[in-house]
Amino acid sequence: MPRQPRPEDKFSFGLWTVGWVGVDPFGVATRPALDPWVYAEKLAELGAWGVSFHDNDVYGFGLDDAEREKACRRFKEATDAAGIVVEMVTTNTFSHPVFKDGGLTANDRAVRRFGLRKILRAVDLAAEMGAETFVMWGGREGSEYDGSKNLYAALERYKEGLDTVAGYIKSQGYGLRIGLEPKPNEPRGDIFLPTVGHALALIAELEHGDIVGLNPEVGHEQMAGLNYTHALAQALFSGKLFHIDLNGQRGLKYDQDLVFGHGDLASAFFTVDLLENGFPGSPDAPRYSGPKHFDYKPSRTEYLDGVWDSARACMDMYLLLAEKAAAFRADPRVAEAVATSGLAELAVPTMGPGETVADLLAGTEADNAFDPDEAGRRNCGFVRLNQLAMEHLIG
Ligand code: GCO
Ligand code: MN
Ligand code: MN
Repeated sequence: MPRQPRPEDKFSFGLWTVGWVGVDPFGVATRPALDPWVYAEKLAELGAWGVSFHDNDVYGFGLDDAEREKACRRFKEATDAAGIVVEMVTTNTFSHPVFKDGGLTANDRAVRRFGLRKILRAVDLAAEMGAETFVMWGGREGSEYDGSKNLYAALERYKEGLDTVAGYIKSQGYGLRIGLEPKPNEPRGDIFLPTVGHALALIAELEHGDIVGLNPEVGHEQMAGLNYTHALAQALFSGKLFHIDLNGQRGLKYDQDLVFGHGDLASAFFTVDLLENGFPGSPDAPRYSGPKHFDYKPSRTEYLDGVWDSARACMDMYLLLAEKAAAFRADPRVAEAVATSGLAELAVPTMGPGETVADLLAGTEADNAFDPDEAGRRNCGFVRLNQLAMEHLIG
């Protein structure tokens, strides 16, 4: 029996996740599309606390203002009635052919102006819906051929676009923060801001970077061969973990968007351990308290029952892993293995209080007696510690 999610778990789903009908580059839909409010109602019934959507998940591209407003009102009424929060809104700047060379970084300036105006309208919509986060995933910002782009100007335009959107949010007094979502490739051959680190570096260049942070996705970091838990840690370190996209990925492949935990399970365990238990030995370090947002795709083999099963599975995997991580941290054998590993010592600054570089170079008595060969023979005990984690994970 799946565990019953509670509102305080803050589980949330993109409408495009359960709403994916199975269209892929090789085949047509394998299941019908339901109305957006039906997905929201069903998610609420399954125990989700929140939903998110792209502008065009709720109303079609090119609809007029009246039709657009009607659809948004209908959707908001349904979410209110179902008691589900619209926690995040984002913009589709990737489906329509106009965006084939990007929205903010297209070579064609008229396309960029069109893209920026579409994003600004989605910001207004996000504020109307009461969302806290505005995600920007620049899936078409990139290239297939390096000769087709002035890469310097592309970054300038990305910066200009982000500052324009962030500046607009501030000028309107909206309580929104932007979450950039890195991805290395797919749909473009190479996407700009391929990883969390790249995005942090661009944010540092922004004028309005204080309200711009990250929305890291499990599979996206793993598609770049990177460690998702490390990415979350670095975003937290910089005070920039604004939102998360949880899903599953197995290795360096296309974006699999599997159920959370159905990819690299050991990595998912330590991701949940970090989210639930924080950094071991650094109780004052930043913690993530935002939505646990799932951005996955119910596999194409599934019909509607499988769609709901997979949404349930995402939440259940998280809750199972949270239980396992709590048991791991509470195990006295783990406390002992942690002590052996010297993990607590990493929180101690390398330099002493008030110590100068000259002091360090002169060395303390202990420094001068330090035997590197002996230190090199230390048994770190990291494998034993990890085996205890795996025992808890599987047991
Ligand atoms: C992907 C991305 C997208 C974005 C979404 C939000 O699978 O490549 O995760 O799904 O998260 O479009 O803008
Ligand atoms: Mn993805
Ligand atoms: Mn995503």
